[in-house]
Amino acid sequence: MSPSFVDCHSHVVPSSDDGAGSVEEGVALCREAARHGTTILFATPHVWPHLVLTETREAEVREAYEHMRNDNAGLELRLGWELTPTAALLEEDPHRYVLEGTDCVLMEVPFTGPAGELVALAERTEGAGLRPVIAHPERTEAVLDRPELADELAARGWTLQVNATSLLGRHGDEPAELGWDFLERGIATIVASDGHRPTRPPHLDEAHALAVRRLGDERALPLFDGSALGLATPSRTAARAAST
Ligand SMILES: [Fe+2]
Repeated sequence: MSPSFVDCHSHVVPSSDDGAGSVEEGVALCREAARHGTTILFATPHVWPHLVLTETREAEVREAYEHMRNDNAGLELRLGWELTPTAALLEEDPHRYVLEGTDCVLMEVPFTGPAGELVALAERTEGAGLRPVIAHPERTEAVLDRPELADELAARGWTLQVNATSLLGRHGDEPAELGWDFLERGIATIVASDGHRPTRPPHLDEAHALAVRRLGDERALPLFDGSALGLATPSRTAARAAST
């Protein structure tokens, strides 16, 4: 029985950022993801300091999302957001940004610079009764400079998410080594695609196969099946039990 994946981080819904450029391209990416074993795919448009979520932008994103959701691309599409931490976001209610159907909010460690605003945003999210999911620490300057930062974030009970492309070496040796180290030590508990476009598609199967070889099936599957989001279905759990 082939595993079914939950991918909590992708940019398949057009939103004026660097993800899918149109509904048609987004639907094609969803079909690709379904062909590669994903059954639940979260579209998580960027909320950047220079591209905030105005009411107009949110309405446009939701309209595109509704079109795509009704296109029957072979998977369940859900909506969330990927927050780049800023002081302005600390003034907002984090409930606005939850990954649909969960109590989780996806936020990234900034690619450059310190992680102080991330910590503040995660604390605020936690204070609102939600769970921070921290995207791709293995790709960021703050963690590459001081990998113990990832341990410190995980020690606070926050969920760390590694990119599948990092594990496949697509971002160089150092992010790959850090990503695998975080998975092997249980510091990170989710692998997601962060898929953006046809040349960087939302696939998880290749990274899952590699994780099975490195970690074994029993440790690999929960990294990919939504367990850390509270989304592992009874059938998934039963499949895992049957395979052990
Ligand atoms: Fe992303």
